[in-house]
Amino acid sequence: MQSRTPILEIKNLGVSFTRYTGLLSRGHLDVITDLSLSVHPGEIVAVIGASGSGKSLLAHTILGILPHNATVRGQLVYDNTPLTPQRAAALRGHEIVLVPQGVTYLDPLMKVGGQLAQGKTDAETTGRVSEILSMFGLRDRTKDLYPFQLSGGMARRVLIASAAMEHPRLVVADEPTPGLHMEAAQRVMGHFRELAKGGAGILMITHDLELAIATADRIVVFYAGVTVEDAPACNFRSASTLRHPYTRALYRALPGNGFVAAPGTHPYPGTIEHGCPYAPCCTDASPACAGPVPYRKAGQGYVRCVLQGGFPDA
Ligand SMILES: Nc1ncnc2c1ncn2[C@@H]1O[C@H](COP(=O)(O)OP(=O)(O)OP(=O)(O)O)[C@@H](O)[C@H]1O
Ligand SMILES: [Mg+2]
Repeated sequence: MQSRTPILEIKNLGVSFTRYTGLLSRGHLDVITDLSLSVHPGEIVAVIGASGSGKSLLAHTILGILPHNATVRGQLVYDNTPLTPQRAAALRGHEIVLVPQGVTYLDPLMKVGGQLAQGKTDAETTGRVSEILSMFGLRDRTKDLYPFQLSGGMARRVLIASAAMEHPRLVVADEPTPGLHMEAAQRVMGHFRELAKGGAGILMITHDLELAIATADRIVVFYAGVTVEDAPACNFRSASTLRHPYTRALYRALPGNGFVAAPGTHPYPGTIEHGCPYAPCCTDASPACAGPVPYRKAGQGYVRCVLQGGFPDA
């Protein structure tokens, strides 16, 4: 049930931090330099990237919860209107929700029912709590339990259930399946699919490419603060339909595809001055990689690579 107008559109996002470099001198650290992606209603978009590539900062930018020393550039559009931090604050927790990484976000001193209802006691909210518990496969009496009485899997379902309480239109999930084995992670993703079927757009941040291939509609690959590739999940069934050398290296690193470790190490923010950040590790690098690298349309997605030929465009 996908609509053609995105619920969220991000173009050329940049995030930098002001920091003191001496007693009285200040500098800027560019962490995200050029991120673009869109999420449509009914769609699950997975964002894949190494640790430190800027994934959580992207989530925090969308929710308007970056720290005060952060500066944001580029365009963020939610439901056809610019998403300013003020607008994000007004929509946060209602239309736009975050599913945080850790179950420690649950209040240990409040019963599940109270957390889902957010203090409301009217009949409509109480009814919605029961409805949402059953939607997530939890018994009605779960509402009388404290977080310490929940198993890890139940706690995770409660986190997602609390995001679903308000009929969100955009769900941002930051590593929603940490440490879960494939079967359990797929079960969690099944809950996100239910929300997507209800019309929500889901942005799922993860390290787990295998899970993203199995459960997402599109996959967006980040590397060192830039989007290097955006493609339908079905393109990730074979290296031949992937376009960026980093994406292909991620594909080959999967257990079923050779388990070949991706070469090199992820650069620290601020250490890449120009050109493609992946060039130092790339076996296909050429002198052109040191210049500007446009993010261009390729097939049903986008790629940021100077290599022009050799990639399938379907
Ligand atoms: N307030 C801040 N000031 C300066 N640098 C920051 C700040 N917050 C984050 N960073 C830096 O930004 C980079 C990206 O951080 P982010 O948390 O988005 O990474 P990530 O992709 O979510 O990583 P992980 O997979 O480990 O969660 C990191 O190098 C981090 O050190
Ligand atoms: Mg993170």
